[in-house]
Amino acid sequence: MKKYRDDFPIFSKISSLIYLDSASTSQKPQCVIDSVSNFYTTYNSNIHRGLYKIAEMATLEVEKARIKISTFINASSPDEIIFTHGTTEGINIIMNGLKKFISEGSAILLTEMEHNSNLVPWQKIAKEKKAKLYYWAIDKNGQLCDEIKDEYNNIVFTSLLDIPLLSIVALCHVSNVLGTIVDIKKIASLLTEKYGDKNKPFIIVDAAQSAPHFSINVQDMGCDFLVFSGHKMMSPTGIGILFGKKKILKEIDPLIYGSQMIREVSKNLTTFTESPQKFESGTLPIEAIIGLSSAIDYLNRIGIKNVRMHEIELTEYAMIKMNKIEGLTIYGPLKSNDRSGAISFSLENIHPHDIAQILGDMNICIRAGHHCAQILHSVLGIQASARVSFYIYNDRDDVDLFISGIKKVKSIFKK
Ligand SMILES: Cc1ncc(COP(=O)(O)O)c(C=O)c1O
Repeated sequence: MKKYRDDFPIFSKISSLIYLDSASTSQKPQCVIDSVSNFYTTYNSNIHRGLYKIAEMATLEVEKARIKISTFINASSPDEIIFTHGTTEGINIIMNGLKKFISEGSAILLTEMEHNSNLVPWQKIAKEKKAKLYYWAIDKNGQLCDEIKDEYNNIVFTSLLDIPLLSIVALCHVSNVLGTIVDIKKIASLLTEKYGDKNKPFIIVDAAQSAPHFSINVQDMGCDFLVFSGHKMMSPTGIGILFGKKKILKEIDPLIYGSQMIREVSKNLTTFTESPQKFESGTLPIEAIIGLSSAIDYLNRIGIKNVRMHEIELTEYAMIKMNKIEGLTIYGPLKSNDRSGAISFSLENIHPHDIAQILGDMNICIRAGHHCAQILHSVLGIQASARVSFYIYNDRDDVDLFISGIKKVKSIFKK
């Protein structure tokens, strides 16, 4: 994988950069940067409006991107792909659209591992509608277990199938802290078996940490919605994807009104376009969509399975080395096959911010804090953790330098 590092200009500009924070955002390859620059220098224009050549070119590129993304996650149609500004916006659109199906006493199931973006919107709507909010608990290895808790931490069910009036199941595909991979397909088939395809609860998948690294097949998974952010998969910031089943998208209302989502407006009545445009009001981040399209081409050239294999190998290598450091605790699944390339850890008696700060001074970029997963951290019994995360441009040398950095942190605090 070393060869891919050369595709990222930041590493030749800052040769000492050890970037281990891709779960936060990824670096961008030259081809993505070029595609954005090419848009601005050769066909910059708005889409779905102009009747001139460059506007037609821009529209074509954006719609080609939609098709490409649809194929990338195996949606049944490009109409199921909605451009958003990121995962957080995608979840808010879904929450807003599904609120008409939530009533007093309905149940919403999340996990204890959720990023705030897939938690706070559901908490808000649960309060508004007097719905019940449940959290699927994790065991000591960060895997979902047979405990479902209420908001006050009482174990109230032993299976999701026991929850009455279950209407929403919103889960991460991969935890941004523990790296845990959730078996969405299994959960979806359990729900389908119990409720049937038509009556099962809505299944919403936060794929922010999986889409950049794992092969995604929404039809095989059996989810109703899936969201992710382009910036974690080498595209520019400001672009995200919301996949939704066509049938459901038809039934739900958009979050934002105005501009392109309008079919006709009169003084007392407005009619709307169909999905996906219905959800895409205002001018889209065209250059970011073009950048994402180029990032998908790049990932396809490498092969998403090779990305995953590389990360398993690197995670395994890093975990073996990290486990040899006295006082270092790794959170989440023990085997690299069961997790992503994000490894959260703590060092006895050293605050994660101090670890990140000292490593930062050595140009080793890691993340420290609660990673927008405060509930998870309180379940783990810690305030914060440090996290390294890998992508295709990382190699064993990066891990070795990180391990030397950790040893240095320990030696500073020994004094
Ligand atoms: C699992 C998960 N969900 C949601 C988000 C939010 O993504 P964004 O800030 O791109 O909306 C993140 C970002 O770190 C994440 O890791």
